[in-house]
Amino acid sequence: MIEISGLCKYYKEVKAVDHMDLNVKPGEIFGLLGPNGAGKTTTIRILITLARPTAGRVCINGKEVSRKKAQVKKEIGIVSQTENLDVEMTARENMELHGRLFKIPAQERCAQIEELLAFVDLTERADTAVGRFSGGMKRRLMIARALMHKPRILFLDEPTVGLDPQVRRKIWDLIRRLNGQGITVLLTTHYIEEAELLCHRVGIMNKGKLIALGTPEELKKKVGKVVVEVPNHNETEYHVFEERGEALQYAAAMKHDVVIRESNLEDVFVELTGRKVGD
Ligand SMILES: Nc1ncnc2c1ncn2[C@@H]1O[C@H](COP(=O)(O)OP(=O)(O)OP(=O)(O)O)[C@@H](O)[C@H]1O
Ligand SMILES: [Mg+2]
Repeated sequence: MIEISGLCKYYKEVKAVDHMDLNVKPGEIFGLLGPNGAGKTTTIRILITLARPTAGRVCINGKEVSRKKAQVKKEIGIVSQTENLDVEMTARENMELHGRLFKIPAQERCAQIEELLAFVDLTERADTAVGRFSGGMKRRLMIARALMHKPRILFLDEPTVGLDPQVRRKIWDLIRRLNGQGITVLLTTHYIEEAELLCHRVGIMNKGKLIALGTPEELKKKVGKVVVEVPNHNETEYHVFEERGEALQYAAAMKHDVVIRESNLEDVFVELTGRKVGD
């Protein structure tokens, strides 16, 4: 559904995206995970026709993005990292405007607006000015708006950034439900749990490079399943083991109190880069 090959985007000396290869399959929820500045937004901006690659090729549903911009735009929905609703307008008016921009016929437009506002649980707030919405409501409205023209692929750049955990889970449910209706999803995140609990496959990005790719299970298996955290003065040492037995044996030999837990994608990132996603 999404094919990226040899993709590079350089801003003077900054290699925002550096020789990236990636295929996202139809029906997947795919997550690009990486710290600030890893190149996630740049990758998305190229895929959604807003930036030109320095080198390489990107295709969406078989169409080369730089050559078939108009066609590609019809097939994709976009939820950007920054809120870009018109806060003076109501939720319904924001939807209406988007529908008109995409030249959706009036009858279909009305039906889509009602259906999608219900889908994101905003029917009762349809006629409230968006300026009075909470962060979570705004994000839900942005998702509804992105679906107005019935795209086959949805791009979400940091869909839950700045939202509290409950609201985050509500957004995850929405993403799962629309994916259940057959929409392919590519999202970016720097939240470990979001990548782990929501995405079928994850690509870990760091400094413009895709440094790991696979299901969360596959990625964790690569570093080892069990982690022993050992406090060492003001720092914590992480030791990763293939099996729980080995970890227990190691922990038993320690003089300090240690934490034994299952590995997560943060451990994968640390193992590959020597730093944390949040650093
Ligand atoms: N228009 C631009 N001009 C110059 N440099 C840019 C531009 N856009 C991005 N960059 C640089 O490219 C790199 C990647 O940025 P990008 O926004 O893609 O990262 P990101 O992974 O989305 O980060 P974040 O988690 O902060 O959103 C950064 O070093 C950034 O400063
Ligand atoms: Mg970004």
